[in-house]
Amino acid sequence: MSTAKKDYKRVTVKSLVEMKANNEKISMLTAYDYTMAKIVDGAGVDVILVGDSASNVMAGHETTLPITLDQMIYHASSVIRAIDRALIIVDLPFGSYQSDPKEALRSAIRIMKESGGHAVKLEGGKEVKESIKRILNAGIPVMGHLGLTPQSIYKFGTYTVRAKEEAEAKKLKEDALMLEKAGCFAIVLEKVPAKLAQEVAESLTIPIIGIGAGNGVDGQVLVTHDMLGMTHEFNPRFLRRYLDLYTEMTNAFQKYVADVKSLDFPNENEQY
Ligand code: KIV
Repeated sequence: MSTAKKDYKRVTVKSLVEMKANNEKISMLTAYDYTMAKIVDGAGVDVILVGDSASNVMAGHETTLPITLDQMIYHASSVIRAIDRALIIVDLPFGSYQSDPKEALRSAIRIMKESGGHAVKLEGGKEVKESIKRILNAGIPVMGHLGLTPQSIYKFGTYTVRAKEEAEAKKLKEDALMLEKAGCFAIVLEKVPAKLAQEVAESLTIPIIGIGAGNGVDGQVLVTHDMLGMTHEFNPRFLRRYLDLYTEMTNAFQKYVADVKSLDFPNENEQY
């Protein structure tokens, strides 16, 4: 089933801007490994984000802070080997771009060279403007990320909705405009009021991809393991679960254990 308005053989950063102009919503999901990326890409998802959420989902850390640039490159190169169509965006991890623009560029170059990713994403507004410009000047497409920025979790202390207050909403709008003017090709807006997200999407020409930001934006992103229901302890209001894989997988594993113990597996047809 496809509801795409135009068939893109390969999705590029230009396709995303075109989709927004044509009123076609953009679908984006995360992947961190070859097998998952192959399924996500084959299903027709427009954009795959190799998110630093790998730090939580793949490695079991409490935050996204511990994941390293080398680990992001490993995940991204596994994803790249799987895809035929999707645009692959790779998160610059915490500590790889905040200290100065030269280091930010070096990190982005390593991602592009060593993983084959198509673009990078980084968190923040005017604080990281110079780094963004430096990366863009090298010809590397950059996606911004505003609202809830998990790499700054210790500054804010909670994962609650951002920019509910006027001052924070004003800064977010200014930052979004700055990111567009600097040359970012799209922005992720995480966990902000739907009305504010819609205002930002309507005021910019680059696509705004929301997560917990309502449906007045230009596309949606979810963490794949969450939407598949594998991470059942994570229950934010914005999350729609398309499967309950936690239960399905638990049942399958329990059946396997029972079959092994009872000598039901392998049977005659499952041996040589
Ligand atoms: O790392 C990630 O998965 C993300 C999404 C939540 C947008 O940044």
